[in-house]
Amino acid sequence: MGEAKVKVPLLEVHDLKKHFPIIKGFFNQVVGHVKAVDGVSFDLYEGECLGLVGESGSGKTTVGRTILRALAPTSGKVLFQHGDESVDVASASHDVLKKLRPHMQMIFQDPYASLNPRMTVLDLVGEPLLVNGVTDRKEREKRVQDLLVRVGLKPHFLRRYPHAFSGGQRQRIGIARALALHPKLVVCDEPVSALDVSVQAQALNLLQELQEELGLTYLFVAHDLSVVRHISDRVAVMYVGKIVELSPVDALYEKPMHPYTEALLSAVPVPDPKRKKKRLLLSGEVADPSNAPSGCGFHPRCAYAQERCKQEVPELREIEPGHFSRCHFTETLQLEGQADL
Ligand SMILES: Nc1ncnc2c1ncn2[C@@H]1O[C@H](COP(=O)(O)OP(=O)(O)O)[C@@H](O)[C@H]1O
Ligand SMILES: [Mg+2]
Repeated sequence: MGEAKVKVPLLEVHDLKKHFPIIKGFFNQVVGHVKAVDGVSFDLYEGECLGLVGESGSGKTTVGRTILRALAPTSGKVLFQHGDESVDVASASHDVLKKLRPHMQMIFQDPYASLNPRMTVLDLVGEPLLVNGVTDRKEREKRVQDLLVRVGLKPHFLRRYPHAFSGGQRQRIGIARALALHPKLVVCDEPVSALDVSVQAQALNLLQELQEELGLTYLFVAHDLSVVRHISDRVAVMYVGKIVELSPVDALYEKPMHPYTEALLSAVPVPDPKRKKKRLLLSGEVADPSNAPSGCGFHPRCAYAQERCKQEVPELREIEPGHFSRCHFTETLQLEGQADL
């Protein structure tokens, strides 16, 4: 993406964990834990877009919701830069959270499920304004109309209900709602996954334009590496609750360092049939986060796994400046990228 961005972390996530208890039986005994997020750390710089990618079930949504304290984390720190203060969202009181909420918003995967069908567009997009003190109806209407125009919808859509819109239009309503209070941080949770392929690119372009225009910082979640390529400055790849690779965007596609990233890259369908590419199949299922494999969580599916991988948990190591990999054998592997994805 364009000009260099100033390196100020807006958000610092330190060893974030979210373990859901598994409760069984008459006495509500805790019989185990789903370790959906299990020690995730990263910085998010002001104005950047960090892509967060991994197969379904790898913990991406839980990371997004925990960062915004829509879910209470099990442990860890989430430091949000608010003016001159650094506030730990993970442990903030409800009063402090109330002050922070307007600055941190989420765009949801499913524009059908996330919009109340009984509310008009005016009420849906105007609700966060009302809650935050824009009580004058005329003023609210004006602000909602401006927001609708900004996301490419007609201002007279105000009185309509969500069912009157297409999927792409509903996602735009969701985006307008998320942006109503001028947030700094926006977690986009697979915002185009539920849309028809024909409108996905438009929605992505809109999100990218809005980011530049409004100086937004994005955590952009997707299950497919092709979606985040053009919008992201850096990409984090997640597998069963952990980041396995974190890198500036081009380096990740050109020179992946973790076998899971290589497999995800190779799994992306390529439109050009003449292009020969080695398809590494990602065999088997995503590991069960309530019963993760020993050692490296990816070893049962890894084409390069050795004995050590079954026993020793690899650390996330910085191999090249800004390029981290959680694999014992990163230095010896020659992994194949997909530079033109
Ligand atoms: N409220 C919950 N209670 C128990 N397990 C959950 C809950 N939410 C998510 N999980 C589990 O946590 C894991 C990660 O889920 P999620 O964060 O939704 O992954 P992703 O967004 O990458 O698909 C999955 O195994 C999922 O079943
Ligand atoms: Mg998800």
